[in-house]
Amino acid sequence: MTDLRDAPFDGLLLGAHLATLDGAQAYGAVEDGALAWRDGRIAFVGPRSALPADAVGSAREVIEADGWVTPALVDCHTHLVFAGDRAREFELRLQGATYEEIARAGGGILSTVRATRAADDDALFAASLPRAQALLRDGVATVEIKSGYGLDFETERRMLRVARRIGETLGITVRTTYLAAHALPPEFKDDADGYVDALVEWMPRLHAEALVDAVDAFCEGIGFSPAQVRRVFEAARALGVPVKLHADQLSDLGGAALAAEFGGLSADHVEHTNDAGVRAMAAHGTVAVLLPGAFHVLRDTRLPPIEAFRAHGVPMAVATDCNPGTSPLLSLRQAMQLACTHFRLTPEEALRGATVHAARALGLPDRGVLRVGARADFVRWRVQHPAELCYWLGGHLAEAVHVAGRRIP
Ligand code: NIG
Ligand code: FE
Repeated sequence: MTDLRDAPFDGLLLGAHLATLDGAQAYGAVEDGALAWRDGRIAFVGPRSALPADAVGSAREVIEADGWVTPALVDCHTHLVFAGDRAREFELRLQGATYEEIARAGGGILSTVRATRAADDDALFAASLPRAQALLRDGVATVEIKSGYGLDFETERRMLRVARRIGETLGITVRTTYLAAHALPPEFKDDADGYVDALVEWMPRLHAEALVDAVDAFCEGIGFSPAQVRRVFEAARALGVPVKLHADQLSDLGGAALAAEFGGLSADHVEHTNDAGVRAMAAHGTVAVLLPGAFHVLRDTRLPPIEAFRAHGVPMAVATDCNPGTSPLLSLRQAMQLACTHFRLTPEEALRGATVHAARALGLPDRGVLRVGARADFVRWRVQHPAELCYWLGGHLAEAVHVAGRRIP
C-alpha cells in the first residue's frame, strides 16, 4: 500500500508568499512559500526550502506564481438570491426617509418579496448568478445564501433551490440558510404568531429536501420578537440544524444573547449588542458577524462593540450582507475595506474575518486557513502585501481562485 504522505502531489504552487492565517506570526506569513495539495486537501504548506527533495519533480502540476496567496474568502452572510432592485428606495432615503419608515409603508423587504414571487426559476437564477460570480471574481469560494424574500412555502423553496444551483454552476460551496422569519408576508398581516406557526411547519419539509443548512431570523421591531425567534430556534434545534440571527441591528432586543443561548453559529450586525450579549457570545463560542456594507449604506453611526469583542475573545467575521435594500455590495474585499475604515479593524483582523472566522460562522472548520488537511481553497492575489486587500477600493486583484486545488475559470 502506498503511504499517502509519500504519494506525489496533485498540485504544487511555488514563488508566492503565503498568508496562511495559521499560527501567531502576523498573517501567519510564510515568505517564499510552497503550497501543495492532494485529493483537494492541503498536503504541504511552508517555506519552499522545507519541501521534500523530489516534490517538484513528481508533482502532477506545478504552478509558478508570484504576489501573495491567502485562503479563499468565505462570505458568511448574503441574501444574493432575489429579483428586482431597490434603487428608488435609495433615493428616498437620501431625501430623508428611514429604512424603518419605508418598511412600515410596505416597501423594503416586502417590495423584494413581490418581485421575487413574480420571477420564475430561470429568471431568479439569471438575476442572481452574476452576483455570485462577482463575489467569486473577488476571491470568494464559499458563500452563504439566505432565503427570506419568498415568505411562502413555494417561493422560499425556490430561492433555496436557486442557491444550490448557483453553487453547482460555479463550482463553489453554497451554504443555504432558511430565513422565512425575515418579514411578515401580506397573507399574515397582523398575525405574526400565525406566520411563525406556518414557517415552523415548512421547515422540516425543506430540510428533508436538503435545502436547509442553517436557520436565521430577523429579531427587530420591524421583524420578529425574541419570543417568536425562540420558537423558530426551537424548531431548528428539533431538526439538529444550527441557528444564527440578525441581532441588534437597529435596536437592542437582546438578540445576540438569544442566539448564544441556542449555541448559535453567529450573531450578525450586532451594532446595539450590550455587554451581557458580548459575554454570552464569548461563553458559547458564537461568532460576531460584522456587516459594514449595511452600516455604510444606511449611514448608521452606532458602532458594534468591537473593543468588547476583542476583550472577550469573540471572533469577528466580516461579510457582504449582499441584499437589495441595505447592502447592494458585490465584493467581500470591499466589505473588508469598510470594516477597516468604519469599524477600525486592522487589515489582518478583516482578512481573518473574511476567511477563518467566517468559516467558523458557517460551521465549516476545514477552510479559511492554509493548513495541512484543510481544503485547498485559495486565492492568488496581485499584491505586494496582504494589507493591500483592504486598501484598494475596487480594482481586480484576484489573479486566480482555486477550489479544492482546481482553478475556477
Ligand atoms: O441584513 N435586516 C434584514 N435583512 C437584511 C436587509 C434585507 C432587505 O432590506 O432586503 C439585512 O440588512
Ligand atoms: Fe442580512
